[in-house]
Amino acid sequence: MLAYKERGKGPAFILLHGFPLNSGIWEQQLEALSERYRVIAPDLPGHGASPLLPEISIAGMAAEVFRLMDGLHIRRAAVAGHSMGGYVALAMAKQAAERISGLALICTQPGNDSPEARERRYALAEKVEQQGTEALVEAMLPKLFAPGESNGESRTAGMIRKAPAQGAQAALKAMAVREEMYQLLPLITVPTLVLTGQEDQLIPPDRSATMAAQIKNAVLVKVAGAGHMPMLERPEMVTDALRDWMELVN
Ligand code: MLT
Repeated sequence: MLAYKERGKGPAFILLHGFPLNSGIWEQQLEALSERYRVIAPDLPGHGASPLLPEISIAGMAAEVFRLMDGLHIRRAAVAGHSMGGYVALAMAKQAAERISGLALICTQPGNDSPEARERRYALAEKVEQQGTEALVEAMLPKLFAPGESNGESRTAGMIRKAPAQGAQAALKAMAVREEMYQLLPLITVPTLVLTGQEDQLIPPDRSATMAAQIKNAVLVKVAGAGHMPMLERPEMVTDALRDWMELVN
């Protein structure tokens, strides 16, 4: 089963981290939201303290989150996913919409990789094989934060450095072949929050706006002064947006 952090009581609320991070990115939201909800932040397969599963896919990660829900006797939950965690959240909505009470899609997108992006992922996986996770720090850190924003940067660098290298390679390969989710978007009927950092360089805010426009009644929140890591760059704004969205979820 996946490693996870759990706090609070009430309706279940699952927070999924992005690549190659772990549940630690949600520390502030976990604390604040646990006043009203049963908040669960898993480490996705091969990340943090969760075991690496061979040949894992994004759909496989979604299935693992459902297994964790089963293990915790949670039938239905609100799911918030950041970036790769958003890919997993969308895959969960595709696999078992009836188990999802609300979706928060944070700095993420419904598209899959272009052939060039796929090649870049494989090249990066190869570099991780040779150089370890320092290759990820080098490739990702400069793009994760809004210019001039240092809130959370050194913590994130530490998290990337400590990420299990094989797990990161597996996740890069999983993201490279992930399914696109455009057709799912108009089928989503649960309350949906689409949140983006106005200065996200990895997944530009326009992509979030386009995604929000395709989901019925989705609320779009653009966090000023944040890049790809708004939960660390502007933690209160993200917590407030999640709290407002959870008011709509039942
Ligand atoms: C992430 O932040 O999870 C990844 O950068 C997403 C991606 O590379 O597609």
